[in-house]
Amino acid sequence: MITIDGTSFRLDTDCTTYLISQTKYGHLEHIYYGNLLGKEDGVDVLAQKRSIMVGSSVLYNSEDDIYSLDAMCLEWSDNGRGDYRHSPTEFKMPDGSFVTDFIYESHEVLAGTVAMETMPAAYGGDQTLLIVLKDKAYPIFIDLYYTVFEQTNVISRRAVVRNEGNVPITIRRIMSISMDLPDECFQMYTLDGGWIKEASLHKRPVSYGVTVNSSTTGASSNRHNPAFLLAEADANEDYGSVYAFNMIYSGNHYSIVEKSERDYVRVCMGINPHLFEWILSPEEKFETPECVMSYSSHGFNGTSHNMHDFINEHIVRGDYKKKERPILINNWEAHFFDFNEGKLLRLAKDAKKLGIELFVLDDGWFGDRNHDKAGLGDYRVNPKKLPDGMKAFADKIRDIGLDFGLWFEPEMVNEDSELYRSHPEYAIKLPNRHSVLGRNQLVLDLCKKEVRDYIVEQVSSILDEAKVSYVKWDMNRHIAETFSEALKNQGEFYHRYILGLYEVLNRIFEPRPHILLESCSSGGNRFDLGMLCYSPQIWVSDDTDPIERLKIQTGLSYFYPQSTMGAHVSQAPHQQTLRETSLATRFHVACFGCLGYELDIKYLSPEQKKDIAEQVAFYKQYRKIFQYGRFYRIKSYKSNKVIWETVSEDKETALTGFFQTLATAAESSDKLKVIGLKKGMFTLRTRPQKLYIQRFGGLIKHVAPVELNPDGVIMRAVNRHYSLRDCVETYTCSSEALAAGIPLCEQFIGTGYHESVRMLGDFGSNMYIIEAEDTFL
Ligand code: DGJ
Repeated sequence: MITIDGTSFRLDTDCTTYLISQTKYGHLEHIYYGNLLGKEDGVDVLAQKRSIMVGSSVLYNSEDDIYSLDAMCLEWSDNGRGDYRHSPTEFKMPDGSFVTDFIYESHEVLAGTVAMETMPAAYGGDQTLLIVLKDKAYPIFIDLYYTVFEQTNVISRRAVVRNEGNVPITIRRIMSISMDLPDECFQMYTLDGGWIKEASLHKRPVSYGVTVNSSTTGASSNRHNPAFLLAEADANEDYGSVYAFNMIYSGNHYSIVEKSERDYVRVCMGINPHLFEWILSPEEKFETPECVMSYSSHGFNGTSHNMHDFINEHIVRGDYKKKERPILINNWEAHFFDFNEGKLLRLAKDAKKLGIELFVLDDGWFGDRNHDKAGLGDYRVNPKKLPDGMKAFADKIRDIGLDFGLWFEPEMVNEDSELYRSHPEYAIKLPNRHSVLGRNQLVLDLCKKEVRDYIVEQVSSILDEAKVSYVKWDMNRHIAETFSEALKNQGEFYHRYILGLYEVLNRIFEPRPHILLESCSSGGNRFDLGMLCYSPQIWVSDDTDPIERLKIQTGLSYFYPQSTMGAHVSQAPHQQTLRETSLATRFHVACFGCLGYELDIKYLSPEQKKDIAEQVAFYKQYRKIFQYGRFYRIKSYKSNKVIWETVSEDKETALTGFFQTLATAAESSDKLKVIGLKKGMFTLRTRPQKLYIQRFGGLIKHVAPVELNPDGVIMRAVNRHYSLRDCVETYTCSSEALAAGIPLCEQFIGTGYHESVRMLGDFGSNMYIIEAEDTFL
């Protein structure tokens, strides 16, 4: 709810309040952001008190010696008026200076959300506050939009600059958000990484000066995700003050956190000013991307829940909003470029037998794409691989009983391609320099209309012809040369590229809402809210090693729900880490997301196939809870444990994944805490899982009735058809006992194996199902 009281603006969500006030000179002061205030609480009590002059400060009004912008918590700020912190703007004004003075002009409260003209935005908000600021010297306006999403405790902010003068101005920086929070000994948490090691959570103290979280690759990037947290020093998963920020944008982002000498912490977030320059002509306006913020005093899980609900409710749209996602088989890691129709149909038939629902044909089906040096851009079916064409092949897949999905990388081209030979001008390059390639490819110039039209036409016609129901949209290199012949001002390149991408996605997918789009960018190089407006799920990482995925999916879970994470079971040893992990652990990690398989099923043993069929059936039974349940990261005092829990909406079912990274000798007992359930009686049971005997090597002599060569033919043959069962525990107890923690059976420590010993070892895991007792239902 938005309440205006004189010069104060109060935005309430179900659990938070955001309070702004207009000062006597018309600046916007940030008063408060935190837990919901009482109705009577107001600016007089909550504003920072100003009663001293701070030596050497510049005064906004020389007759007012306690009004220094530098010493205030502001909601927006300028250059050249005495505030020396990072300014949200850097405009070259008509007088050639960079000095601005934006003060309150008017405000309006609007119903619902105000859609953006150029970019995707959140939808379904409750109310929007528009505060218009005007520069004191020139008719340049900044419209600040605040939208309240009450139930999800999210407030979004964005700014629009309007030039109502008669000369152009140059925008060198324009943020979507600027605000100052009094310090709480904040720690900043960011998601950093690179290819196959995306989204690692890093923590650093917010100290004096500026910390930057940004990307310059032309995408939101795997280097630094746009999302970040500010948390009080003692915050943990369940307690403490946490602010979360994110941005609905897929290009170069930029956030700064700056602690001032007055111990105020400025947060700015917006488009990266790096190589950015935008000429705003008279009567033009410039929209900044929408940024979202959330606060919780219930620790990191608190802000995660807000952000998860917000994404499921206000970002993801179309037919797949809140819809359960299909279990897929993707042929990439099974075949790479080396396949033909026979191999594909065999994989599809094997997948169908295991209960899989969707077949995805990845890279390599078109042109001369037999390796990654050629063919990209030529979306004509390779007749050697699919002799009857795409429609016929898709029909064969559907006849097997699977839906059909297809891979594209529409923004890119190989120099060795028909597209490049006939349209070299479609690719981004500078006339007087050699091109720099990434994965042997150039980027297509999405600033050009003819390129956008070409992509829309190419992709759409195949989608319609083959009745494709899922698309994997890949993007496998960073942008390097920021140059387009279509632009007069190259400072607009990066942003115009992203606007071009959004236009293309709109044109292809808006008329085809039945298609499930999965965005991918060498894995998670474009995992952001902008892409989620088109693509309900995103391929998290090319790294499917479950132990690496524990870090990656945990990192993403701070901001993004499980329904957005494409997660696959692949082969072991893992193709990038060489790590050997059990099929059970690979599944237990992948099922906390949108499950898929990415391996050649024909090489699996009969026992492994049975195992996968059981996994698929189990996932189908609990899919809604895995994809849309309330997700908790459960604290463990042991550093070799990762515990994830997801709880059904009615709080009557929980699923807990208990993961052990490296085993320690004589591991002490483990406790399983299950939180977030309704009050009542529950049964907890372990999902039965197979223990493959080959894993035990020579140890098998302790349980086998006859002596066997651990590496012999008999052992290998038995391993293909027979497995042991891991310890299954069942308890009945109250939700209170579960929240306090149930001690689990002890782990194997070399003193004997029996059915009450948990066999985890390195990289072991268990899945627990916790369900309300019948009497409770
Ligand atoms: C990178 C993706 O992340 C992979 O899953 C696969 O689609 C390859 N590209 C294909 O080139």
